[in-house]
Amino acid sequence: MRKKIVAGNWKMNKNLAETGNLLGELKGRVDQIDNVEVIVAPTFTNLYYSFEQLRETTITVAAQNMHQAANGAFTGEISADMLKSIGVETVILGHSERRAHFGETDAILKEKVVTAIQKEMTVIFCFGEELNDRKSDKHFDLVASQLKNALFDLDKSAWSQIILAYEPVWAIGTGETASPKQAQEMHAFIRKTIAKAFDQQIADQVSILYGGSVKPANAKEIFAKQDVDGGLIGGAALDAESFEAIVRAI
Ligand code: PGA
Repeated sequence: MRKKIVAGNWKMNKNLAETGNLLGELKGRVDQIDNVEVIVAPTFTNLYYSFEQLRETTITVAAQNMHQAANGAFTGEISADMLKSIGVETVILGHSERRAHFGETDAILKEKVVTAIQKEMTVIFCFGEELNDRKSDKHFDLVASQLKNALFDLDKSAWSQIILAYEPVWAIGTGETASPKQAQEMHAFIRKTIAKAFDQQIADQVSILYGGSVKPANAKEIFAKQDVDGGLIGGAALDAESFEAIVRAI
């Protein structure tokens, strides 16, 4: 059975006090929920505090990014060891905002994934097409190449540490969602692509999350699809009530 997962990507939102408030609410709402793994990704400055706050709960803390090098002269960057030393063992890599605003290419992401896997972290690997790609019917090719370039040189054994998050860029923060049918179609394609490159068992085991304007009103329909194993939630994860509603929609 594949794991069902709902992860909240808080992006560059919530200062320390606000983080404390949201975590306090989440502890009362989404701790110990059967059959769903709940993950939250606060900003770097609040990661250790979040880990401490959630230590006794079933909610996992993830980072939103990390550097590919082990350490060294990379001013402003954060390493896998630093994350692990504060209890953070999961990292989001490849988010479209990192790709678009911070120049993260498939090649860089490949290095980041390799480092995270070597450091025994879990990776939530994000990818997805832009509107142009979909309009010109290149979305399947684009997604296949993002997966291939960053992930297909991994050993089979690495896949137990990978969670995939398909996030069509045109649906992120726009209020525009892929229809449940579009999401299912792409998720099935992703699974098939992984089965071809690795094997069916790996393809069947990997959790594939959908991300892009998931809200309480549309979560159930999207999560009901066979190859959708949960969601990566941005805006709606910043409010405890709506995040809980999405978690309970699984
Ligand atoms: P959104 O963001 O839910 O606000 O569209 C999703 C994401 O960027 O992970």
